[in-house]
Amino acid sequence: MARREASFICQNCGATYGRWQGKCDACGEWNTIAEENAASERPQMPGRAPRKGRVFALEALAGATHDAPRLASGLAEFDRVTGGGFVRGSVLLLGGDPGIGKSTLLIQVAATLARAKQRAVYISGEEAVAQVRLRAERLGLAGAQVELAAETSIEDIVATLGDGETPRLVIIDSIQTMWTDMVESAPGTVTQVRASAQALIRFAKRSGTAVILVGHVTKDGQIAGPRVVEHMVDAVLSFEGEGSHQFRVLRAAKNRFGPTDEIGVFEMTGGGLREITNPSELFLSERDLGSPGTAVFAGIEGSRPLLVEIQALVAPSSLGTPRRAVNGWDQNRLSMVLAVLEAHCGVRLSSHDVYLNVAGGLRIQEPAADLAAAAALVSSLAGASLPADAVYFGEISLSGAVRPVAQAASRLKEAQKLGFARAILPEAARAEGTSEPGLSLQPVGSLASLVADIAAQGKTDDRRQPSDDRRRKADDRGPTTDVRARKADAG
Ligand code: TYD
Ligand code: MG
Repeated sequence: MARREASFICQNCGATYGRWQGKCDACGEWNTIAEENAASERPQMPGRAPRKGRVFALEALAGATHDAPRLASGLAEFDRVTGGGFVRGSVLLLGGDPGIGKSTLLIQVAATLARAKQRAVYISGEEAVAQVRLRAERLGLAGAQVELAAETSIEDIVATLGDGETPRLVIIDSIQTMWTDMVESAPGTVTQVRASAQALIRFAKRSGTAVILVGHVTKDGQIAGPRVVEHMVDAVLSFEGEGSHQFRVLRAAKNRFGPTDEIGVFEMTGGGLREITNPSELFLSERDLGSPGTAVFAGIEGSRPLLVEIQALVAPSSLGTPRRAVNGWDQNRLSMVLAVLEAHCGVRLSSHDVYLNVAGGLRIQEPAADLAAAAALVSSLAGASLPADAVYFGEISLSGAVRPVAQAASRLKEAQKLGFARAILPEAARAEGTSEPGLSLQPVGSLASLVADIAAQGKTDDRRQPSDDRRRKADDRGPTTDVRARKADAG
């Protein structure tokens, strides 16, 4: 008999416990611990004597290297994120909220490969074959030679895949619906998900097939999240986007064979996912020109420059603790920028609600966005719109200085390409010798000088305290003042 192990497992994070408890100490979630029979999880058969170890040859690190051969998917945005295509025998986990478009993306990948005469197999545990066919038809992919099945038994799947010509790509949609005879737990539990993933990973390594596992991310922790699988696979990709936006961003959270900072950008259309080769154009397409509180940030995602609009709204608050809401950017970063504005630039925001939003549902992680965020905030507060032909980038230090950021040249190049005429950037960037024809560079040494410039634009006299100044003016002359100031600025 195999030894019975601690068999209470958190369905959210996979932590194991010897007995049931209400709260998982590892992830802090409540009611996520369920009993699972983990006794026979090992591949070794009960009753069989432990296998004697096999002696294998060790190899020199300096030996001949073979580049892992890659199989390009044919979707350039997908390949950008994986680092140039699928590595043979690698296993990739694609996570994302339900309905975001994972199945759509993968049937497109499978069809593109099949058209390139590579054997691609799509196994759905969630939809019937007819449903997958219907979707493919809608996407105009019905002619592609993708092999389909609606199956959930890992043993059957591995046996089928091992029969005949080895497929180049196998898609398992989703890992939560799969189950294996090797463990007794119900499908969807951590133990099942882990054991099923293990079996598929063994198959991939043995056959050289690239395998993509789809994993649903659930917030309530009722179904086992794919988190337990993350450390077992070679790459973890996440497909993100906001329900209300048609933009979808594919990002690598982990990649053993490529970079993790590249993003792939898609647009969900009636005919499936469309690749966006120039995302800046897309993210700037719905710009609200001439209104205060918006600044264009010249960012970098991976190796690619990306221009995106940052929108801010600063409004007097009626709450004791004013609101700070942020969408698409780091909350802590916003707090820091607000603190620097207060401490070094005389901008009082303690009685104002602050909302910051990155347009298009994009999520920015670069500190280089500090300057653009600060400009948008001050612009909203002062009621002064920023020049529509300007881009901003630069990191703000706690002392209020504007610090240089990496890849200034490619940010400027992208700005110039998209018709921008000026760039507000750290002083050090000019020293780097970066220049673009037709782009005027306006270096700022400190955040205070940027605030003074924007306040001057808003026709305010007291440059130190644009907030108080604006309020006083508004009180004196009624709400039309702001509108006039804006118009004058836009003209
Ligand atoms: P789906 O790929 O089923 O999502 P997931 O597998 O991540 O759960 O995509 C579902 C959504 O995509 C659905 O809300 C409809 C939308 N969609 C389109 O807008 N256009 C299309 O061509 C397709 C196939 C789906
Ligand atoms: Mg799906």
